[in-house]
Amino acid sequence: MHASWMRHIGSATGDTSCEALSLRVREITKNEDRMTLSSIDPQSDAAPLAEDLYRHYRELERTIRVNEQSTRTTYRSPVNFIESMQMPRHRWFPYKEGFSPSFVKEFLSASVKIEDGLILDPFSGSGTTPLVAGELRLRGLGFDVSPLTSFVAKTKAVVMSAAELRSLRDVIFDFDKSPLRSRAPEPNNATVQRYFETEVLEALLRSKAFFQEIDCPKINALFKLAFLSAIEPFSTHRKAGNGVKKKTRYSWPVSDADCMSAVKRFMIQKLEMFAADIEHTPEFIPPEFRQESCLGDALSAEVEDVSAVLTSPPYANCFDYSKIYMSELWLGDFFKSKTDQQAFRQASVRSHVHATWADRYNEFGIPIVDDVIRRHIEQQDLWSPRIGSMLSGYFADLGNLLDNLRGRVRSGGRLGFVVGNSFYGGVAVATDLLLADLGRQSGYEVDEVRVYRGVIPSSQQYQKLGNNRKYMRESMVVLRRP
Ligand SMILES: C[S@@+](CC[C@H](N)C(=O)[O-])C[C@H]1O[C@@H](n2cnc3c(N)ncnc32)[C@H](O)[C@@H]1O
Repeated sequence: MHASWMRHIGSATGDTSCEALSLRVREITKNEDRMTLSSIDPQSDAAPLAEDLYRHYRELERTIRVNEQSTRTTYRSPVNFIESMQMPRHRWFPYKEGFSPSFVKEFLSASVKIEDGLILDPFSGSGTTPLVAGELRLRGLGFDVSPLTSFVAKTKAVVMSAAELRSLRDVIFDFDKSPLRSRAPEPNNATVQRYFETEVLEALLRSKAFFQEIDCPKINALFKLAFLSAIEPFSTHRKAGNGVKKKTRYSWPVSDADCMSAVKRFMIQKLEMFAADIEHTPEFIPPEFRQESCLGDALSAEVEDVSAVLTSPPYANCFDYSKIYMSELWLGDFFKSKTDQQAFRQASVRSHVHATWADRYNEFGIPIVDDVIRRHIEQQDLWSPRIGSMLSGYFADLGNLLDNLRGRVRSGGRLGFVVGNSFYGGVAVATDLLLADLGRQSGYEVDEVRVYRGVIPSSQQYQKLGNNRKYMRESMVVLRRP
């Protein structure tokens, strides 16, 4: 039954965040299939650990309000890429992990009464929360370790004078007429090069050489964003799960006689859309974006008097953004060597297993994760032996952030963390309940865990979860600073 649901969700929504989430789930499933598929044998050492875990969840549910707005496996989710792609500025770059702007607006409108203070997103991705804050005439600030998303978010916040807009249109005209004789060097990554047909890569690199010569930083950035948004449509591969997959049917996104004209035309359409959005969107307060980690000492002293936080950390699902956005990161020169990629992974929240992290923030972790979930998982033959330590690290990182934020959020300020729960070794990792409890331990009040939808990993193990299936869901943990 669930497999057909999953197909239904996919076909109903197309290339949406919903699909992104179902892909995340399917990826987990794929990983599950690679472990020994005996469900938890009631006689095994693992069974008491799983029982302890579910007992713990039930105890948490006695004191944490779980508000089930919907538990159906619906495409209605705070993470809704389709909506963003229809809205001015938000539509400039397809970031599947992005929030839907209307969700952000609803949360902020209900949370922030006085029009001052700061709206913070410590994992701002493509910048939806700070951008919507700006649209509501609030000051927005976003942090993200990814050089790609930081660039995307900063560029989406651009403000241009009428003269600058005229220059942008002049440069678009020049681009259209240019024979594009120069060519930028190939990216220093053979895998990325293989994701493009030779003539397509050639056309992309010639377009890149054109905008690299543009002196005006704003126009340069808009061209670069148009270039970045052409990468996946022109690639022979598409984003899928924790990486990319070869497209079954490949064709250029715009039909044209030659590849160079097709790339040019695609970029020009984007650039004209950017110009129209800049010209017509109502005034807003441009938010600030920093390419920095939100963990540890990185949140600087100026981050204070925060009136609301709305964020979505990477889910604890082993997905590695440096792989998923590999083509954009390398072709956009955000990564020039493997060292850049390693630095990005090291700075990220511990939500995947592609890095070996030194112990950090252990004091902020959760005992039930370290002593029960991790022990249970380490008794299973999972596809990676690092998943247990990843989960310990994930909650320690988020605990560090919550501790760090406490003194910076106003009394009465609300914090919303959108999270997806995960499933490993036959047990549900209820990130929402665990994070709510972590918030409480860090001195916040828990308003509620608001459940938006159920998610289904298609695995026999999942079928055997029985009543505990309800823990497979996407929700928002709402905290309040007393
Ligand atoms: C689910 S996405 C957020 C999407 C965002 N809500 C939007 O609307 O686009 C999570 C983001 O967290 C970022 N991230 C991971 N570790 C981080 C860290 N230590 N500090 C700041 N950002 C981090 C990732 O690069 C990713 O862009």
